Amino acid sequence: MSTNPLNEMHLDPQRFSGLDVYAVAGNPIAHSKSPLIHQEYAKQANQAMHYGRLQPELDGFADAARRFFASGGKGMNVTVPFKIDAQALADQLTVRAQLAGAVNTLWIKDGKIYGDNTDGVGLVRDLLAQGIALHTSRILLIGAGGAARGVIGPLLEQSPKCLVIANRSPAKANELVQMFASLAASKEVALESRTLSDLESRDKTPYPFDLIINATAAGLSDQSPLSPAAVINVFTPSSFAYDMVYGKTTAFMQQALQCGARISDGLGMLVEQAADAFLLWRGAELVQFIRPRAVLAQLRS
Ligand code: ATR
Repeated sequence: MSTNPLNEMHLDPQRFSGLDVYAVAGNPIAHSKSPLIHQEYAKQANQAMHYGRLQPELDGFADAARRFFASGGKGMNVTVPFKIDAQALADQLTVRAQLAGAVNTLWIKDGKIYGDNTDGVGLVRDLLAQGIALHTSRILLIGAGGAARGVIGPLLEQSPKCLVIANRSPAKANELVQMFASLAASKEVALESRTLSDLESRDKTPYPFDLIINATAAGLSDQSPLSPAAVINVFTPSSFAYDMVYGKTTAFMQQALQCGARISDGLGMLVEQAADAFLLWRGAELVQFIRPRAVLAQLRS
């Protein structure tokens, strides 16, 4: 048995007899705010449930998740680094999970494991709640990994003016542009790719951007994906800079602030994606009871 205090042995659903049990799985997971968020939704919607944390070994997600469901667990949120493993584990995927290439929400029904991805709708709802007019926005999405891919579909659904995907390595951004080309065309969105170094040249950054989203992992190592030369082409005082990470003012957010732009971290996205997961598990009709923005305000206070 592992000595890890947060491993799956501590989230045996059978210990909570009479309660439906859910968990967030990630590694590391100790600082996740998801249990707090779901506890609040459960309170608001009067649901008897337990929501805990699960920290599988890095190569042990599938085993841990199967064990959790086999012993009665009802649903699971999945975070870094297991979203691709979760997609592989699911017996059935929603269309948006297939498009996202990753799964952040699992549940079991009639012995089958279902997978969905609520990250993109969570981001869109948080942006709309912050007053961003997505349908008239020129959007720059920085990054082309799992986090970026998960939000492209829901952003395109809002029919922005354009969506530029910029990435350090060009191949991945080009791949995403190809993958989403038909959705972009159907929504009449100009979808283009750039490298991060393209952003340093005025000729190659044809738009002043209204919304700049950082979906790279650079912030985790206190770096920004944008060089000083790119910063002056990307931000204006009327832009809105959104970093998907939360809990700190990242280097990317500091650059935006220095240009007079408005900034946001990704805490609202976390709260909103959790709301969708909660409704998938407990019933869409509960939407009338849950108050994501109140939960967000509470987390920020
Ligand atoms: P995630 O699932 O969190 O998106 P990922 O799939 O490993 O993680 O993708 C990480 C993303 O962050 C990629 O777009 C990566 O760029 P590359 O494709 O060129 O590797 C980007 N990234 C990570 N560190 C970065 C840094 N220091 N500067 C710029 N981009 C960075």
